[in-house]
Amino acid sequence: MNKVRVAIIGAGSISESHLNAYQNNPNAEIVAICDLNEERAKTVAQKYGAQKTYTDYQALLADPDVDAVSICTWNNLHAETSIAAVRAGKHVLVEKPLCRTVEEAHQIQQAVRESKAILQVGYVRRHDPNVELLQNFINNDEFGNLYYAKASILRRLGNPGGWFADKERSGGGPLIDIGVHVIDLCWFMMGKPKVKSVTGNVYQKLGNRAHIRNFSFYKAADYDSSKNTVEDMANALIRFENGASLMVDVSFSLHAKEDESTVKIFGEKGGFEIDPALFIVTEKHDTILNIQPQTDHKASNL
Ligand SMILES: NC(=O)c1ccc[n+]([C@@H]2O[C@H](COP(=O)([O-])OP(=O)(O)OC[C@H]3O[C@@H](n4cnc5c(N)ncnc54)[C@H](O)[C@@H]3O)[C@@H](O)[C@H]2O)c1
Repeated sequence: MNKVRVAIIGAGSISESHLNAYQNNPNAEIVAICDLNEERAKTVAQKYGAQKTYTDYQALLADPDVDAVSICTWNNLHAETSIAAVRAGKHVLVEKPLCRTVEEAHQIQQAVRESKAILQVGYVRRHDPNVELLQNFINNDEFGNLYYAKASILRRLGNPGGWFADKERSGGGPLIDIGVHVIDLCWFMMGKPKVKSVTGNVYQKLGNRAHIRNFSFYKAADYDSSKNTVEDMANALIRFENGASLMVDVSFSLHAKEDESTVKIFGEKGGFEIDPALFIVTEKHDTILNIQPQTDHKASNL
């Protein structure tokens, strides 16, 4: 088999994860790095042995030596870059979120259908070893019909600022940044039911809480506390056509006692928790069983 010749578009923080995986894959070869920031592209290319660098992604997509691209840019470029890449005949691994709007998603879908390229979205939670473990239980009908899911990622002080806080570039705040991971995870594990309705609320009450002292939090490279155009928190109730429902709430800032990360799914024969740690609840011989699966991956490391 010929090696797949891959290139990276957007050489910031998350690109390292893509690059390390490609570097460790005997079927992949890293051939080019593209970033608006030329120095960053060159530094990353040198570190991973890529022969070519670009600052213009269109020029990279015209390169016949590239078979596939990882798109790791800000969210506002995911749709435009994905469409251009599949039209240029390149396979795509695009970071989450796929894009900012349903219209953009449809445009990407159309472009993929018109091409021979494969496009995958970086919903990494689906490949969490605990999720794969639970999937085996689901496939063997251990939990019965999964009819309710509840997911929360509540950061009390966790607006990263920079492009994440700039709606133009991010498309939104915690819902599109961290919410998409758990919404996708629950929907995927529930068997991808079709959505019937969504009721939601978005709040912009606390801002980025940049005034807080004596307590540190993660900041993006281009952090600027004066710029914040995204929501602080969002919640939603998603109803599916099969009668199942998913309740989700997420925040970048909230007057909460502590950060919270929970993903729980309930079925007719049993339920399970993925976050904060793997746990199974079921019933046998008229007795409730709390089960702690013995695995090396007790909790999600995301
Ligand atoms: N799967 C995950 O768990 C996960 C984690 C973090 C980030 N992400 C996603 O990855 C993406 C990037 O996030 P990040 O934290 O690496 O951001 P980052 O700011 O560290 O990196 C983004 C890079 O894209 C570059 N860029 C912007 N526009 C470009 C263009 N037109 N052409 C070439 N390069 C361009 C920027 O210069 C920057 O170097 C986001 O969509 C984010 O949601 C996913």
